[in-house]
Amino acid sequence: MKTWLITGGCGFIGSHLADRLVRAKDRAIVLDDLSSGRADNLPPGAEFVKGDIRDAALVGRLMREADGCFHLAAIASVARSNEDWAGTHAVNLTGTINIFDAAARARPDARKVRVVYASSAAVYGDCPDMPLVEAAPTKPLTAYGADKLGCELHGRVADYVHGVPNVGLRFFNVYGPRQDPASPYSGVIAIFAKAVLEGRTPRVLGDGKQIRDFIFVDNVVDALVAAMRHDELRCDVFNVCTGRSTSIEALARLLAEACGAPPKIDYGPARSGDIRESLGDPTRLRSALGVTAGVTVADGMRRTLEWMRGGAPAKA
Ligand SMILES: NC(=O)c1ccc[n+]([C@@H]2O[C@H](COP(=O)([O-])OP(=O)(O)OC[C@H]3O[C@@H](n4cnc5c(N)ncnc54)[C@H](O)[C@@H]3O)[C@@H](O)[C@H]2O)c1
Repeated sequence: MKTWLITGGCGFIGSHLADRLVRAKDRAIVLDDLSSGRADNLPPGAEFVKGDIRDAALVGRLMREADGCFHLAAIASVARSNEDWAGTHAVNLTGTINIFDAAARARPDARKVRVVYASSAAVYGDCPDMPLVEAAPTKPLTAYGADKLGCELHGRVADYVHGVPNVGLRFFNVYGPRQDPASPYSGVIAIFAKAVLEGRTPRVLGDGKQIRDFIFVDNVVDALVAAMRHDELRCDVFNVCTGRSTSIEALARLLAEACGAPPKIDYGPARSGDIRESLGDPTRLRSALGVTAGVTVADGMRRTLEWMRGGAPAKA
């Protein structure tokens, strides 16, 4: 039985990963400060430790028990990162360095603890070369994106200076059950679905022609697990995306259709700094990690709606 440390495991993506690891009969230790996650997201069998990734002593103690660390804890909001620049930086970048540092120190004389961490498509900024390949220029436009790029740079330090093997995963737009539809920072699928289920008309910000690459959370968990398993990869980053584009407008219509609601859309003012197009190239995800993000938006949306209606939880 392997022991995994999951930071941010009470959150949306982390709790699906905890489900998967517990189902595989591994031991999952979850470190989370519950700033946005919920302990009741965790499956029975996961071990929950309430605490902060910036607490070096606590992280050090947990890391010594772990065969590998999935680092997902972050303040996962672009808007908040711009409002509270220094505060989110302390969690999103300094907190990540704390994780790498603990992985370096956990076993002085043995193999270092492998770290798989969440990066983001936000590292690309408004790069015009679609689809985005990992080698595309990284020019983040937000504090959140800059900190995620910082995590990747410190991932290099972790490997080259401290011998900590690590892989960063650039998640595109992740959606699925347990994404909090009440949060203004939440993904657009959760927000639109909540509106449609409550009989309201979804409100598209801007002209609705913005393009996104929506990936279902189960496929993100596939990528996390594969990145941990492929230990020949020592220091690398991968897009975690589908390569299929959906416009925000088309998404709103699809959701209305899936709920049997009229295909009506309200339009509001565009958000400042909203990226026009974000579409990833999943070639390396497939070739190096063996992961195909096969869940379609229609199917993933159906499973998300099922969960929102309080039906059987769509398990990872
Ligand atoms: N959801 C997406 O579309 C998306 C896209 C790109 C990248 N990501 C990244 O994936 C990761 C997981 O995102 P998510 O959507 O599940 O977000 P989430 O907010 O649901 O999960 C983050 C978890 O981290 C915890 N946390 C925050 N600060 C902490 C701290 N200082 N110490 C301990 N725990 C702390 C929160 O309580 C929460 O449970 C994040 O790193 C995020 O930046 C997400």
